[in-house]
Amino acid sequence: MLSSKRILLIITGGIAAYKSLDLIRKLRAAGAAVTPVLTDSAKEFVTPLSVAALAGEKVHSELFDLTSEAEMGHIELSRSADLILVAPATADMMAKMAQGSADDLASTLILATDTPVLIAPSMNVRMWEHSATQRNLRQLQADGVKIFGPDAGDMACGEFGPGRMSEPVDILTAVQMHFTRGPLTGQRVLVTSGPTHEPIDPVRYIANRSSGRQGSAIAQALVNQGAEVVFISGPAAADPPLGAQIKRVETALEMAQAVEQALPCNIAIFVAAVADYRVELPGAEKIKKQAGGLSTLSFVENPDILASVAQRRDNRPDLVIGFAAETEALEKNAQAKRMRKGCDWLLANDVSAKTGIMGGDENAILCIEQAGVDQWPRASKAQVAERLVQKIIDHVEKASTAHG
Ligand code: C5P
Repeated sequence: MLSSKRILLIITGGIAAYKSLDLIRKLRAAGAAVTPVLTDSAKEFVTPLSVAALAGEKVHSELFDLTSEAEMGHIELSRSADLILVAPATADMMAKMAQGSADDLASTLILATDTPVLIAPSMNVRMWEHSATQRNLRQLQADGVKIFGPDAGDMACGEFGPGRMSEPVDILTAVQMHFTRGPLTGQRVLVTSGPTHEPIDPVRYIANRSSGRQGSAIAQALVNQGAEVVFISGPAAADPPLGAQIKRVETALEMAQAVEQALPCNIAIFVAAVADYRVELPGAEKIKKQAGGLSTLSFVENPDILASVAQRRDNRPDLVIGFAAETEALEKNAQAKRMRKGCDWLLANDVSAKTGIMGGDENAILCIEQAGVDQWPRASKAQVAERLVQKIIDHVEKASTAHG
């Protein structure tokens, strides 16, 4: 799938550099040629010899390397690549890229080209969450750099949270998706999915029966049509889509924040079953039932993420799609909900227990838009996703004809 593609792989100095060796093997097995570049600090983690042996090509690392300059200048080195992949990308490398600094071979290569750049960040969770890194991240996104990951989980430093470099198999899929062309290529699409968990105390939470299957199916169908998908999911059982940028959250407030960070985008689809309320003051310790604390919980309303995006003046996506799970008076309630939320399309479904839809394999949609109401036949969640994505493709093509 990657045959005839040349990837310039920049390895920077993070503990995840060891995973880049596996990434090189996977890229080559998929048919890509890999030109490896190591920063000085990367050499503290992996040796040029092992990188060169796996890539089957010479490692580049010196900015002023006379032999290399005679053979192929550093400008040519980056311009001859189809994609520059920075994996792992340390906080320092992200800062340099955001600044446009060019004080070593890796940063110079990135600055000297208009070849697309994809980075897989890797760092300690505090470094990732630091406002400076988040500022650099936003700058890189605005500059058109594609960001993949990081994942959340146990870290080599013993802490837990977002910051781990994504797994090589997932980075490979992201690279393959980068080269996938389809009718949605160039469209950045945000999808929320799954339930949210609202803590009562450190061990208890309020949740709902959403499995995340419909959201995953929609995101996967979008990726398959060439879209760049940001998938923001609560704790769901369904497999996440391959080739999407995945952000995991727990609560509605975290989901709202992740959505804000993912804007701007062209299309936003809100499939998540967000909890309407959260516990006002979750217990710092497990609440004792003898003390009666559980019978007197007070709740505050969560932000309505869909409505806030659909009604914003700046950065409103061109197309905002909501879902509505109803158990009675489906069409009437859904019509009113579309108006109240301000979304363009509302896909309503009957989730009363008799339908088996919530948490099940199938869905039956009533698609509501200004132009009218369309009843879709009951079908698998994958088929519903295909149908929705085809409708989105038709809409995007119609809009581009109208503008062009
Ligand atoms: O009002 P209701 O929860 O039925 O609305 C459902 C739609 O609104 C879904 O698209 C859901 O993802 C979205 N929603 C949201 N934030 C909330 C509640 C619902 O984005 N707090």
